[in-house]
Amino acid sequence: MPTHTPPAPPRVLPALITALRADLTAARFTSGRIEELLGEVALGALRRENPVPARRILATSTDPAAVLAQLFTLGVALPRPAVEAALPQLSVDGAAQLGLVCLGPISEGTGSTCTSPIPGADGNLLVHPLLDLSPYSATDDAGEITWWIASDLSELATGAALHPEHVLGVGGASLTLARLTPRTPTGRVLDLGCGGGIQALHASRHAEHVTATDLSERALADAAFTAALNGIDLDLRRGSLLEPVAGERFDLIVSNPPFVITPRTADEDASGGWTYRDGGRAGDTLLAELLQDLPGHLAPGGRAVMLGNWEITDVEDPFAHPTAWLQHALADGVDAWVIQRESEDPAQYAETWARDGGITDRDPRWAELITAWLEDFAARNVTRIGFGYLLLHRPEDSQSPTPSAAQPTARSGARPAPARRGVLRTEVVPGTGSGTLATHLAAGQDMIARLATLSDEELLASRLIRAEDVVERRHLTPGQFDPMLIELVQGAGFARTVPADQLLAATVGALDGTLTLGQVIGAVCALTDADADAAQAQLLPQIRELLITGMVTL
Ligand SMILES: C[S@@+](CC[C@H](N)C(=O)[O-])C[C@H]1O[C@@H](n2cnc3c(N)ncnc32)[C@H](O)[C@@H]1O
Repeated sequence: MPTHTPPAPPRVLPALITALRADLTAARFTSGRIEELLGEVALGALRRENPVPARRILATSTDPAAVLAQLFTLGVALPRPAVEAALPQLSVDGAAQLGLVCLGPISEGTGSTCTSPIPGADGNLLVHPLLDLSPYSATDDAGEITWWIASDLSELATGAALHPEHVLGVGGASLTLARLTPRTPTGRVLDLGCGGGIQALHASRHAEHVTATDLSERALADAAFTAALNGIDLDLRRGSLLEPVAGERFDLIVSNPPFVITPRTADEDASGGWTYRDGGRAGDTLLAELLQDLPGHLAPGGRAVMLGNWEITDVEDPFAHPTAWLQHALADGVDAWVIQRESEDPAQYAETWARDGGITDRDPRWAELITAWLEDFAARNVTRIGFGYLLLHRPEDSQSPTPSAAQPTARSGARPAPARRGVLRTEVVPGTGSGTLATHLAAGQDMIARLATLSDEELLASRLIRAEDVVERRHLTPGQFDPMLIELVQGAGFARTVPADQLLAATVGALDGTLTLGQVIGAVCALTDADADAAQAQLLPQIRELLITGMVTL
């Protein structure tokens, strides 16, 4: 499969963007409308990256939304009259001025460029799409969201492998991160590695100011175009990692960083050096570098939500790499929570990311690429690669001076000591949870901070309440009275299942806020003849854990 060379990014020309917005609105070019036009079968196929049924259905429709979807999502060149009818205010010439379409075929080369128009068999010129402009819909606390997002044409539209400077549209990882990000009203937000800007757009709905950074000029141009098209104000800056925000602090940092671990060779293009996803570093060192400086950019009370991959060399200690990366954060008083959602072996990982870049097992580059990946992992004794979430939280009372190149850094040892060392929590949570996870995770982070300074005596004196979504599940051998297994099962959040014995189940069952935890434990021990000291020693860590997971509230 050839590699598609992306064209020059779209231009922000305000009057033409206003006309485009009017046309997209009039055409009802929304996710809902496209779903209606496609129907279940074509939509399902499209989600499996098979565009054929969608092309077939949309080709029979003159609906302006169908025309726009063919052109800008499926990458189909269309006769000029059809496009003129779908873009009456902007016109095809206006779309060409914005850099959205070519009036002649696109030549692949050092940058896709428009060649001279050639009339089709019917005498009409064909309009060729230069980028993907897709509708996006979501719902948040502020209501329904309907945006249009500009990115490079996908592999599905071009039939070609992705270029290193490709700008991604909204993908699964983007949506995962959006779902993890707290949406409470906040002050300053940073979207690091913003790509086409989806996280920044979401943040604009609940933040006073959004800064979005990227190394890629093309990505920033797409983000600027998308922001202008949707009437959203973003502070866009170019640079690597935290360079563009030196000396600044944020209340929320959100990042889907270029975390994909890629073998490095002298010839990056041939080896699959994809800026849009791997950041050009060896192994998983980009995250190590980022997490060294990121905590210093968190304002008191600030949070960071990131996705990441990490190398696992010892399956007994899958979090060794994130733990090492986060030592600086912990020393700076920042709490960290690392959640591994899944892991892959080196061959699975290489296959996943080769395919993601549009290189399939029929591509002549496949064998060489997979071999390079396997050798790269073998060189560092990597047996698995973890994928998950990294959440940071600087509690309100934690000290951190404004970071600045001119100021002493924590590494020089000259910073004031934090009020306490941060807490690190690592866990494997296979499921993706139910509903929005953001509120659940933020509450967990707050509880981690609260418990760090709450003594056992204070905990015993607290009136705890079992969460409403927690039920008890008992497994019994048929005919037996005593359960062989008791589980506490959560409905919301990560829908966790926690094994419990009679003591824990009885204690949690009685936590309705009437008695203190100490009184409940005393009563359960009196009823069951359990030793009170031994019961407390067992139950206190278990209850702390249930508080963090939201199964019990304080
Ligand atoms: C996986 S994409 C994320 C895009 C978008 N934020 C999302 O959630 O869909 C990673 C982005 O990081 C950018 N990037 C790569 N190396 C970078 C670096 N050293 N510093 C900042 N951004 C970088 C890429 O250009 C790309 O836009």
